[in-house]
Amino acid sequence: MKILGIETSCDETAAAVVEDGTRILSNVIASQIEIHSRYGGIVPEVASRQHLLACIPVLEKALADASVSLKEIHAIAVTNGPGLAGSLVVGVNLAKALALALDVPLVAVNHLEGHIYANWLNTDRPPPEFPLLCLIVSGGHTDTILMTGHGMYRHIGRTRDDAAGEAFDKVARLLGLGYPGGPVIEKASKGVQHPRHLPRPWLKGTDDFSFSGLKTAVLHMACETGAAGDRTAGDDDARKTAAEIAAGFQESVADVLVGKTYDAAEKYGAKEILLAGGVAANALLRTRIVEKSPIPVRIPAPILCTDNAAMIAACGYYRLAAGKAAGWDLDVDPNLPLVE
Ligand code: KG4
Ligand code: ZN
Repeated sequence: MKILGIETSCDETAAAVVEDGTRILSNVIASQIEIHSRYGGIVPEVASRQHLLACIPVLEKALADASVSLKEIHAIAVTNGPGLAGSLVVGVNLAKALALALDVPLVAVNHLEGHIYANWLNTDRPPPEFPLLCLIVSGGHTDTILMTGHGMYRHIGRTRDDAAGEAFDKVARLLGLGYPGGPVIEKASKGVQHPRHLPRPWLKGTDDFSFSGLKTAVLHMACETGAAGDRTAGDDDARKTAAEIAAGFQESVADVLVGKTYDAAEKYGAKEILLAGGVAANALLRTRIVEKSPIPVRIPAPILCTDNAAMIAACGYYRLAAGKAAGWDLDVDPNLPLVE
């Protein structure tokens, strides 16, 4: 069964064709990073206009790359939330029009659920074993989720303030490293011999996370050491210090994410750990979470961690198998929760 996935929840216009929920036939992503980096972050109105411009060429390329015609598509899966309303609406309307014209089922996919299902894609390992402990780390979310079966979720921990990706983005900005934060912090940290020591926000006694205090600690350290602000001035000492602080921040985030995920996995008897979301593309986090894990860990390839439509098509396959097709009244929900 070939499913066409469509994803436009944030600043990536994406379309993909996936067979039987696992085999990627094509995966096309048009990023708007260059446009938004001028403003240091995503401008929602600009994002929705770009989706409008890009969605048809991206769709055509996804079909061409997969060597399939629209007539060979069995269902359309689309992200309907959470995300930016004006961005989501472009994908949802495109999906509705296609499903109606082709007379095939329309499936609505929660973006976070999509991130989880990236772990079912292009793998030669047997499918993940339930119950699983999922760590979702993206620009808007830091959640641990106990997954007991397909589509069955229990929320374990969440961030009380900034999401991990959001903290990466804010710290990169205050260290003058650019946008998006995750990749630039990862790059700046490479080769740093002595990462600066920063606190670990453990939030003992709860499964929740908190990153805003760590961000404030970075701000204080950056101001005290002269590493805050614009990096274009060419001050080598300040640049070196900024890189050391960035590396220390990355260490702290990785330690806390890994420690709390292990604790939750043990507490709830998980058989495997799954990573999902843009921050799961981080090499330090990927290494650390595998290093000492007593149970198997799965992490999608980096390109499948950040926003893409293959994960939406994969999730759509399992939703459809469970009889969860959407109606024509499907609407976007910018705050769609994973667990109702
Ligand atoms: O999942 P995603 O692509 O979009 C959302 O659903 O939010 O995640 C985007 C977030 C951004 O905050 C970005 O800075 C972060 O993921 N990110 C990374 C890396 N690549 C992307 N964070 C750390 N290391 C990376 N390599
Ligand atoms: Zn995402």
